[in-house]
Amino acid sequence: MSHFTAVILAAGKGTRMKSELPKVMHTLAGRPLIDHVLEKVAKPGINDVITIVGHGREMLWEHLGERTRVVVQEEQLGTGHAVMQVLPLIDENSSILVLSGDQPLLAGHTLQSLMEIHQKTGSSATVLTAVMENPSGYGRILKENNVFQGIIEEKDADVLQKGIKEINTGTYCFNGAALKFALQKITPKNAQGEYYLTDVFDILLSYGQKIEIFCTDDPSEALGINNRVQLAEAEDILYDRIRKYWMMEGVTIINPPSVFIDAEVVLGKDVILNPFTMIKGNTRIEEGANIGPSTTLINCVCQKGCQIEHSVARDAVIGENCLVGPYAYLRPGTVLGKEVKVGDFVEIKNSIIEEGTKVPHLSYIGDSRLGKNVNIGAGTITCNYDGENKHQTIIEDRVFVGSNTNFVAPVSIGKEAVIGAGSTITKDVPDQALAIERSQQRIIENWHLSKKK
Ligand code: UD1
Ligand code: CA
Repeated sequence: MSHFTAVILAAGKGTRMKSELPKVMHTLAGRPLIDHVLEKVAKPGINDVITIVGHGREMLWEHLGERTRVVVQEEQLGTGHAVMQVLPLIDENSSILVLSGDQPLLAGHTLQSLMEIHQKTGSSATVLTAVMENPSGYGRILKENNVFQGIIEEKDADVLQKGIKEINTGTYCFNGAALKFALQKITPKNAQGEYYLTDVFDILLSYGQKIEIFCTDDPSEALGINNRVQLAEAEDILYDRIRKYWMMEGVTIINPPSVFIDAEVVLGKDVILNPFTMIKGNTRIEEGANIGPSTTLINCVCQKGCQIEHSVARDAVIGENCLVGPYAYLRPGTVLGKEVKVGDFVEIKNSIIEEGTKVPHLSYIGDSRLGKNVNIGAGTITCNYDGENKHQTIIEDRVFVGSNTNFVAPVSIGKEAVIGAGSTITKDVPDQALAIERSQQRIIENWHLSKKK
């Protein structure tokens, strides 16, 4: 296959989104729409990618980085006008693949077929179409005796044309020279006063050029995101595809419709995802982990065999065979070693907790380092913040901390030390010492009776 240049249209404001955010930056299954399209064009046969930006260009520019060449369309005068902006960069002898930044569900294999058909037939242009039960909003494919005659936009269509169910997906292949030639001839004489890319087909046909149609058998691929209802529909479809993909890869999902897995997530074999669970961002879950029910993980690494239930974790690493929850909250910078237990109503932030340590109940551990096989009693708190700065608590291996202890950081506790329950520890404790900080208990005999007099 000869080389393709991919051109992604992403300059439009996305007026129908009613948003400050450029349309292609709205997220779908955890990443912006534009990233879904970029993923599809990162494939053999496509050796150059150009993205056309306009509305919200600074944000897009920064987001796209080195992944694509970027061309600015100063004023958004239509899809044809957008493609005109890249003509100076286009080699007449190459093939051009045009895609919309707002069409994220296109399948890689469909794109592959489209490119192959285009090259095999040697046509000037090949249009990807789909048959939709409800085609409203899309350009319709005009045919006579089953021969392609052009594309009519919804706003320019008459009642009969609106009844046509075969639609233009907005994805095409062009011969470079033919595209250049036809684009110079389009005009904005239509209901929207725009330069329509879809008008090039009329022009090419009138010059006797050959145009192919390739109709995908999955209309969901064609879904263009113009408003938030379509964004939600697309997300439903994509989440469903992702769940099916991972189930086929050996993941058990209990009650699949209640489990949401983002596009970038990676799951190992024999992972179990229980109901009402969201796996977000670039989370990675290794073999045999059992996650949920009712758990949200964002950008986490969950190592082999860990179990997490009814909990929330963000930017955290959960080690092999850890037990987390119910009702734990792991915040950014939490790193749990092997077989750590984090129990109910425990919050951990920016802390390293080594192998075999247990924080089973009602604790806050922040900016801390806990060694191996430490036992933290119920209700223990690290007081890491003095109102201005955060300070560190260090607790070495095999320390036993009695319940309801406060560690006023910065403070260090040596190996195998024991902390008496109810202590507020403000000074470092040496290895193997007992530290206890509590006033003497007083007993007032017969106090209850004396009150009654
Ligand atoms: C377009 C097609 C329609 C097709 C539909 C598929 C035209 C005239 N119509 O309509 O036939 O059925 O897509 O989804 O092409 N854009 C720019 N610059 C502009 C205008 C748009 O870059 O000046 C970009 C948008 O950001 C968007 C894409 O082009 O990513 C499509 O534009 P949009 O306005 O959504 O076109 P539709 O009305 O959906
Ligand atoms: Ca669109």
